[in-house]
Amino acid sequence: MDALRLILILSLLSFSSSAVAADNGGEKVTLGLYYESLCPYCSNLIVNYLYKLFESDLISITDLELIPYGNAKVHPNGTITCQHGPYECLLNTVEACAIDVWPDVKDHFPFIYCVESLVYQHNYTYWETCFEKLGLDASPVTDCYKGKRGTELILRYAAKTNALQPPHRYVPWVVVDGQPLYDDYRNFAYYICKAYKGTTKPTACTGLSFGLIRKVKMNLFDTLYGDKISQSKLFEAVQAILSWLQRNKTVASL
Ligand SMILES: *[C@@H]1O[C@H](CO)[C@@H](O)[C@H](O)[C@H]1NC(C)=O
Ligand SMILES: *[C@@H]1O[C@H](CO)[C@@H](O)[C@H](O)[C@H]1NC(C)=O
Ligand SMILES: *[C@@H]1O[C@H](CO)[C@@H](O)[C@H](O)[C@H]1NC(C)=O
Repeated sequence: MDALRLILILSLLSFSSSAVAADNGGEKVTLGLYYESLCPYCSNLIVNYLYKLFESDLISITDLELIPYGNAKVHPNGTITCQHGPYECLLNTVEACAIDVWPDVKDHFPFIYCVESLVYQHNYTYWETCFEKLGLDASPVTDCYKGKRGTELILRYAAKTNALQPPHRYVPWVVVDGQPLYDDYRNFAYYICKAYKGTTKPTACTGLSFGLIRKVKMNLFDTLYGDKISQSKLFEAVQAILSWLQRNKTVASL
């Protein structure tokens, strides 16, 4: 736990000091994550990989866009069905509402991370505990997902997903500056660093090879942190990342 916290604290420092990086002639790189709330590969990506954007200074050069729709369908009669059933439609809408209510990624990501960590632990029916855990007011999100706004947002994400070129083939579908990463999606750090045109690359990019010779698929995070966080490590990671992201709020025990 201490080591993890230390990493997070150090990263926090580099995050604040590298905020200038994006001003250095480089546009932020857009990372679009097309996903659905109950897909196991999606929750794994969010819980074990994506949060590291915030740990490292990569978030300073990245526009992270979450698009919770995936393989859902809008039928001609107006009903929406989801690949993993009605509960997935509910949580897609809840996550879409969280993004709408807290537009800054630093505000909505902790909530989505929390919900997806419950999905990862097969305990997602307790998703409402995430409000309390993060000290967030539940009412704006609740009003949204129970009302018309929630449906509006899902229809907007449906349109955005259906407009993908090339179309998505599966979820999670990660797109960096318009280019799908296909099954190499866990390597998003490599693609972000490669796409970033600023003169000063963030420190998280150093050590990534940008040459033509890239025979072995590398995964920055696998290299740095090992393949997968175990169940108990996950518990600690959730605590650490949430308290880091929400560091001035009281985080109730998970
Ligand atoms: C709407 O269409 C879907 C798919 O065709 C169907 O399963 C569903 O029962 C319909 N719902 C209503 C209310 O007609
Ligand atoms: C699911 O979450 C609830 C509420 O946090 C907790 O009481 C319960 O023990 C959890 N169950 C599992 C299987 O983790
Ligand atoms: C952070 O929390 C402390 C103690 O609750 C408070 O004194 C301080 O003003 C807060 N800082 C910000 C930036 O909200």
